[in-house]
Amino acid sequence: MKKTSKLSSQEIRRFQKEIYGHYKRNRRVLPWRETRDPYKILLSELMLQQTQVGRVIGKYGQFLHRFPDIESVARAPLRDILKVWQGLGYNRRALALKNLAGFVVDRYGGKIPPDIEALKALPGIGLATAGAVCAFAFGQPAVFIETNIRSVFIHYFFRDRRGVKDNEIHPLVVQTLDAKRPRHWYYALMDYGAMLKERHPNPSRRSAHYTRQSPFEGSLRQVRGNILKALVEQPGLTERTLVRECHRERRVVNEVITQLRIEGFIIKRGSRFFISER
Ligand code: ADE
Repeated sequence: MKKTSKLSSQEIRRFQKEIYGHYKRNRRVLPWRETRDPYKILLSELMLQQTQVGRVIGKYGQFLHRFPDIESVARAPLRDILKVWQGLGYNRRALALKNLAGFVVDRYGGKIPPDIEALKALPGIGLATAGAVCAFAFGQPAVFIETNIRSVFIHYFFRDRRGVKDNEIHPLVVQTLDAKRPRHWYYALMDYGAMLKERHPNPSRRSAHYTRQSPFEGSLRQVRGNILKALVEQPGLTERTLVRECHRERRVVNEVITQLRIEGFIIKRGSRFFISER
């Protein structure tokens, strides 16, 4: 366990050597690492937030084939975006992408801003995504923590601790960052973190911020997914049909419909529901 958060230059070098050593031997070749296009990188980071690399790879390619740039996302109806997003889950990310694309086109003429503060201010973008885009698209030494990175620092610097807070990890990320090669440094950290998860009990369990994805079967998330899928495929369904499609109690389906309307996913016209037209 680190008592103080100040590392010696020898400790920093040893840590970097360990991480880069693994990277040299086991570097993952991933499609979003072959580009510097901020839109493509942002898209990949959104997809990777809650979905594993293996499942993202195919969808990333399909999505870019259909929506090659941010303007195409801004122009497309939400329904078309959700159609391609199907299978990735957590549809909020698709809505966030759509809103963000509109914002970037209106406000920045379609250019994602190369600036951490401006990125953080984009609708639906958190600190980790903003930092990742800065590092991967713009080569900036931004400081950020996401799940794999968190695992590495907990494993290496907090061996016998539980409940490790991100604000304890943050100063270590700052001190160990390879500011000359942030892109490779963060790829290397992420690859090391992914390896740890396979070989050890996931170190992120010892994070104060650890949450597991709740089971999908029988969840409200499943009902959300079913309603959106049904309306993507068949616009204009009634509440009655949606209840039937979901195989759930009317009360539950109603509750989810209300939530989806509040969030801006769906609209009601007469007694029929549609994916929102923005
Ligand atoms: N490469 C770039 N971003 C990544 C991420 N969020 N997870 C895994 N690999 C990545």
